[in-house]
Amino acid sequence: MRVGIIGCGNISETYFDCQNIYNNFNVIACADIDTDAAKKSAEKFNVKAQSVEDLLSNSEIDLIINLTIPSAHKEVIINSLKAGKHCFSEKPLAMNFDEGKEIYELSKKQQLYVGCAPDTFLGAAGQKARQLLENNEIGEVVLGTFNIMSHGMEHWHPNPDFFFKPGAGPVFDLGVYYLTQLVNLLGPIKTISSISGTATPERIITSQPRSGEKIKVETPTTLMGTLEFQNNAKIQFFCSWDVWKHKHSTIELYGLDGSMIIPDPNFFSGDILVSKKEEDWQKVNNDKMLLGVPNKADNDGTIIANYRGIGLADMIDAIKNKRQARCSLDLAIHVLEIMEGILTSSKNRQMYNLTTQPIQPKFLSEEEIKYLKS
Ligand SMILES: NC(=O)c1ccc[n+]([C@@H]2O[C@H](COP(=O)([O-])OP(=O)(O)OC[C@H]3O[C@@H](n4cnc5c(N)ncnc54)[C@H](O)[C@@H]3O)[C@@H](O)[C@H]2O)c1
Repeated sequence: MRVGIIGCGNISETYFDCQNIYNNFNVIACADIDTDAAKKSAEKFNVKAQSVEDLLSNSEIDLIINLTIPSAHKEVIINSLKAGKHCFSEKPLAMNFDEGKEIYELSKKQQLYVGCAPDTFLGAAGQKARQLLENNEIGEVVLGTFNIMSHGMEHWHPNPDFFFKPGAGPVFDLGVYYLTQLVNLLGPIKTISSISGTATPERIITSQPRSGEKIKVETPTTLMGTLEFQNNAKIQFFCSWDVWKHKHSTIELYGLDGSMIIPDPNFFSGDILVSKKEEDWQKVNNDKMLLGVPNKADNDGTIIANYRGIGLADMIDAIKNKRQARCSLDLAIHVLEIMEGILTSSKNRQMYNLTTQPIQPKFLSEEEIKYLKS
C-alpha cells in the first residue's frame, strides 16, 4: 500500500524507517504545516514533500499516517477519511471521547479503516504475557497495579508544551500504553474511580533549544485510582509527572495461583517475572521472539527492540483480508473513553461507567509476524 505521512516531527523518523521492517507499505510523500520540516524529511527519506492539502488529494496515496500533535489528530483523521483514505494515527486517537465518536461514525460511513497507536502491546513482551495468562500460569487474574511515575517530559523533548495540555498529561501520553496493554491482557474495562492533582502550575523546560522557557500546566499531572474490568479484575493505578524517584514496578498482575510482573509497555520486549504462589520469581525472557530481538539504538545508544509499525502493517493486512485490525478503532475508542473517564471521574468525584466494549485484540503469532516482516 502507498502511504503518506502528515506530521514530520520527532517520531516521524521511526515511521519512515519501519517501511523497511514490514513488507506491505511504502511511504511515498510527506507533509507538515511547517513546510521546512516536511522538506527536510522528504530529502532525508527520498520521498515527495507536499502541502497537507495536496497530500490529502494525492490519488496515488491509499493511507495516511498521522504523526501530528494530539490536538490535530481528529482533524487529520477526519480529513483523511473525507479524502477517501484509510488512516493510522499516533496516539491518542483524539482529544476526547466526543471527537473519537465523530471519527468512529465517519469511518463506518466511509467504510474506511482507522487504526491507532500504541502497537507496542503486539511486541514480544505483550504477546508472551498474553500467552502465559492464556496458559493459566498464574490462574485467573483478580487484582493488579500499574505505575507510571517520573518528573515529566520537559527535560528531553525539544517542544514539550503539548505534554501539559488537555489531550496529554501522564494518562493520555503514557497511560495509553499501559491501558492498551491491560485491555490486551485482560479484556475491556467497565468502571473507573480516580482522583487527580497538579503539583506545580508551571514547568520549566530544561531541554534544548528552549531551556529556561516556562510552560503553563493545563491538565492534571497526577492521576490515581482503580479500574474494574469486565472480568471483575481490579487494577490500582498511579500516573504522575510529579515524582522524582520511586521503586514501584510497571504492571503487576495477581492471579489466584500466582503473580506476574510485566515490563514497561512503551517497549516491545523486556523480561516478564512469574511466580507460582509463594515460589521465587522466574524470568521469562522474550528477546529471541521476532518482535523482541534488539534492532535499534535508543536515545542513549542502547540497542533495544523497536518494531513500531506492526500495528500499521497488521491493519494493512486486515484491510486486504477484510478482518478487524488488532490496533482497531474499537480498541482505540475504548482506550480513549478510559482515559477521559479517568479525568472525568476525578473531576466529578464519581465513579465513571464505560459505554464502549471492544473485543480483546486477537493474539499475534510468530507465523503471522513472519508473514508481515521484510
Ligand atoms: N516523540 C516520541 O517519542 C513519541 C513516541 C510515541 C508517540 N508519539 C506521538 O506522536 C505524535 C507526534 O509526536 P512528536 O514527538 O513527533 O511531536 P512533534 O511536535 O515533534 O511533531 C509534530 C509535527 O506535527 C506537525 N503538525 C502539527 N499540527 C499539524 C497539522 N494540523 N497538520 C500538519 N502537521 C501538523 C508539527 O509542525 C510537527 O512537525 C504525538 O501524538 C505523540 O503523542 C511521540
